[in-house]
Amino acid sequence: MILLIWAGGSVAFARAGDIVDGRALFQGTRPFSAGIAATDRHLPAAFAGCANCHGTNGAGKTEGGMSAPAIGKVSLESLRGPLAPYRSKDAVLAAIEAGIGRGGDPLGSIMPRYTLSADEREALFSYLARVGTPADLPPGVSADALRLGLLLPLSGPHAKQGQAVADGITRVITATNHAGGIHGRRIELIARDTAMGERAALNSLVRQDIYAIVGGMWDATDDALEQRLAEARIPVVASLVVRQDARPTNRWISDLMASRTAQKKLLEATLLSCQTNGPRWMLQMGKDAIRGDAGVVEVTDDRVRQLPAPEADGCLGYDLSNLGVVKSEVTEHWRRRIVLPFPAAVLSDASGDIWTLLGAASSRIAMEALSAAGASLHETSLIEVLPQIAGFEPIPGAPVEFSVGRANAWDAGILALDPEDNSESRNMGPWAAAKKED
Ligand code: HEC
Repeated sequence: MILLIWAGGSVAFARAGDIVDGRALFQGTRPFSAGIAATDRHLPAAFAGCANCHGTNGAGKTEGGMSAPAIGKVSLESLRGPLAPYRSKDAVLAAIEAGIGRGGDPLGSIMPRYTLSADEREALFSYLARVGTPADLPPGVSADALRLGLLLPLSGPHAKQGQAVADGITRVITATNHAGGIHGRRIELIARDTAMGERAALNSLVRQDIYAIVGGMWDATDDALEQRLAEARIPVVASLVVRQDARPTNRWISDLMASRTAQKKLLEATLLSCQTNGPRWMLQMGKDAIRGDAGVVEVTDDRVRQLPAPEADGCLGYDLSNLGVVKSEVTEHWRRRIVLPFPAAVLSDASGDIWTLLGAASSRIAMEALSAAGASLHETSLIEVLPQIAGFEPIPGAPVEFSVGRANAWDAGILALDPEDNSESRNMGPWAAAKKED
């Protein structure tokens, strides 16, 4: 038996804001007006949202011995096993506020008892009719449009890189829109310039109701900024942040490139297998120095400038941040192994500036993820879907390697340049120039 508690009534006549407000309360993106006193157990705001236990789509969730049932309209209006349906709006609200369940029986104590304002009551009740349905869309998404944010240095000393990244992203989005968008949605871009201050730029972006951030460059060590993204429940698809260790500070963030630690490991292994009778040197990268074991010695750029006699040879390994440091007299005789935060195949794409390529790659990943996530979206869709797109090649030969435990797309790669080969790949030029500005 289906009782139509919501039929024709409250939802049709719900004030427009109720769904939005109810969604924010349900999903935990906004605290209840009573603060921690909103629940009998004084849950912090981040845990009081219904989605924490009942799932972002309200379909119920079993986790760590707790089992919370589905609480969308259809479920509450239906029998649960032998238990009677809820018969009125008041009955549903009594479950939420007083823990009075089906047939008047008390709900288990894991279900908090809520103290709600009159507005919150209306808002939550309206939203229960919407949660988990195709019309239940997160901020930044409507039936025919989806808004993505860009957080890049668009002015100031890094403007050239930021503009190039934005250019790569915009090209991909424009092409996507020409081809009809994704699931019938036109993709819109809103950009904020981090030159105004990274946190100010992020806050301004959050106020614009964006669904996700694509690409994006900021200081990898700014935990507070990344925390703010998690609080706002805004996923980041393939940021251009290169961090020390692979794991971002929270699960809302995914990166395009390999970490410094991963790069260093690959570089060391590559140097060890480099054929030479001379020394194997690795230019200092990252923080922790490698002791001179296993034939690889970490050197500072000072020592590179006073390498042995010009005719001496050896293997020299470095990363992109040291591209500008290695002098031409070194490159003449030494085998060079340059570690890249992306597969070497990325450099064989001759279509232009490396930053534009990286921007294009991150937006292609975002488009692929959006397409795989399907038409009905919630805040966590893009993060959850990433392992499913493993193997996708945003640039030919450079597959993404996302998995459940891994949040960066690309493995590190090596560019091998031997003495007879004096050409630095032309694509590297802009990178070296950019790094020198740092
Ligand atoms: C800390 C976990 C938790 C949170 C947060 C939570 N619930 Fe529950 N809820 C439960 C559990 C567990 C049950 C099942 C209790 C039982 O069956 O005895 C439940 C039961 C319910 C029921 C009764 C369902 C039925 O079929 O009888 C409703 C309605 C409900 N919750 C609504 C909400 C709403 C609305 C919110 C947010 C305002 C919320 N819950 C937040 C854990 C939670």
